[in-house]
Amino acid sequence: MKVYFCWLAICIGFTAHSQNTLSIDVAKGKEIINKNIYGHFAEHLGNGIYGGLYVGEKNTTIPNKNGIRTDVLDALKKLKVPVVRWPGGCFADTYHWKDGIGAKNKRPSMLNIWWGNVKEDNSFGTHEFLQLCEMLQAEPYLSGNVGSGTVQEMADWLAYTNYPKGSSPVTDLRATNGRTEPWKVTYWGIGNEAWGCGGNMKPEYYANLYRQYATFLTDGKNRLMRIASGASDGDYNWTEVLMRDIPHHLLDAVALHHYSIINWNKKGSATTFSEEQYFKIMQSALQMNELVEKHSAIMDKYDPQKKVALFVDEWGGWYDVEPGTNPGFLFQQNTMRDAMIAGVTLNIFNNHCDRVKMANLAQMVNVLQSVVLTHQQKIIRTPTYHVMEMFNVHQDATLLPLHITSNNYQFGNQTLPALSASASKDKEGTIHISIVNIDAKQPQNLTLSLSNTHLQNIKGRILTAEKIQQYNSFEQPDLIQPTPFTQFKTSGNEITISMPPFSVIVLAIPPQ
Ligand code: AHR
Repeated sequence: MKVYFCWLAICIGFTAHSQNTLSIDVAKGKEIINKNIYGHFAEHLGNGIYGGLYVGEKNTTIPNKNGIRTDVLDALKKLKVPVVRWPGGCFADTYHWKDGIGAKNKRPSMLNIWWGNVKEDNSFGTHEFLQLCEMLQAEPYLSGNVGSGTVQEMADWLAYTNYPKGSSPVTDLRATNGRTEPWKVTYWGIGNEAWGCGGNMKPEYYANLYRQYATFLTDGKNRLMRIASGASDGDYNWTEVLMRDIPHHLLDAVALHHYSIINWNKKGSATTFSEEQYFKIMQSALQMNELVEKHSAIMDKYDPQKKVALFVDEWGGWYDVEPGTNPGFLFQQNTMRDAMIAGVTLNIFNNHCDRVKMANLAQMVNVLQSVVLTHQQKIIRTPTYHVMEMFNVHQDATLLPLHITSNNYQFGNQTLPALSASASKDKEGTIHISIVNIDAKQPQNLTLSLSNTHLQNIKGRILTAEKIQQYNSFEQPDLIQPTPFTQFKTSGNEITISMPPFSVIVLAIPPQ
């Protein structure tokens, strides 16, 4: 009986649509997948910082190191977080960094006008953030205040973090606050969403302001990356004006923001959704490909040598907040649907790594499409966490160009390609292939061919679930997690793979 069931399972596994194909030319790898594509974004928003990353040292029973939650830290370390963008988001253009340094009981409070009008006591400031980055061994990306700040304020922030000791009044202040040596922060965002919450500016006006800010953002020694506040979605004119009007010696990267969303006025529940809503979110997620290609084409026109990078420094799924939570806190659950967003989006970034050099998932903890959710002492690793962990094998590996033909995922009279993939070869010579089947109902068979590769000792991991709406809850935190994947066969230079519906697979092919 058992044998019969096993055979049945294998047969069902391999009974899928017609064959999809994926061919990888292993000899043609050239571009490096910048590890910063696996970056994060942590804003002073809801319980993203307070309660999520930071609980302070006093009045808490939650284990912490200098106020930073050790359970969250341990989870994040496994992701190999390369870079964290902070303190916003919209919050950044209201933030005055000097309010967040020095003795905590002397730091002034402010109202967080963008996110729930709650009191911000500034207990998590520059020192705390940069210490978090040190603990994670991640690069900090500071997002400066253009909307309501000054050039002097941002230049002083740079001096505070980067200038050698004893070189200016702010470096003396840094020493008084317990840090003698500079941190040497490389990534500097000049405002955020300048077209919206960052000041409702026109692109020409922002480009002029950017030129002024960037001129004074220098520390003379270190190679800084100055990042222009970028377009929202398909606002191609924004990118055009920045690339045209900002001299490229002042411009290291242009940002882009795109959220996977059904409708800004009717986002829908994060956990209770129909297949139609799922399909719409997949359409929105896959739109990233077109956005990256069209913004890149404009950048190519002004910068054919690709010296200016594209940083997608906010991306992710956006739904209604969880019932009963503060609408200004953007706390949402995270299902297998989010794993699909993460899988297809990371494949898109990998495949465009010649221009996309950084991306920042919005947001790290407890806000929008988070990798970790917390509730008091409890913590959940979300399906998105698991995709970020499975895919981190691509960090700093060489992209392998691929060609894919995919069946359609059909909903009503609309279609999307069911499969997406990316592949890379790491420094040890291991080839990793990440494949996503977004089809909500159909399994997919795939024939994968690799040139000049010895197919032996292949290891696979899969993330899937019984239902696309499933998620890890505080009661069942490990319901969804990666498991070994064995539904493939090798023959010559081909691998035949059977992928269940809504699944993410990563294969590792060791060197010969
Ligand atoms: O991530 C939430 C918000 O979305 C950010 O603060 C803002 O930049 C964007 O509109």
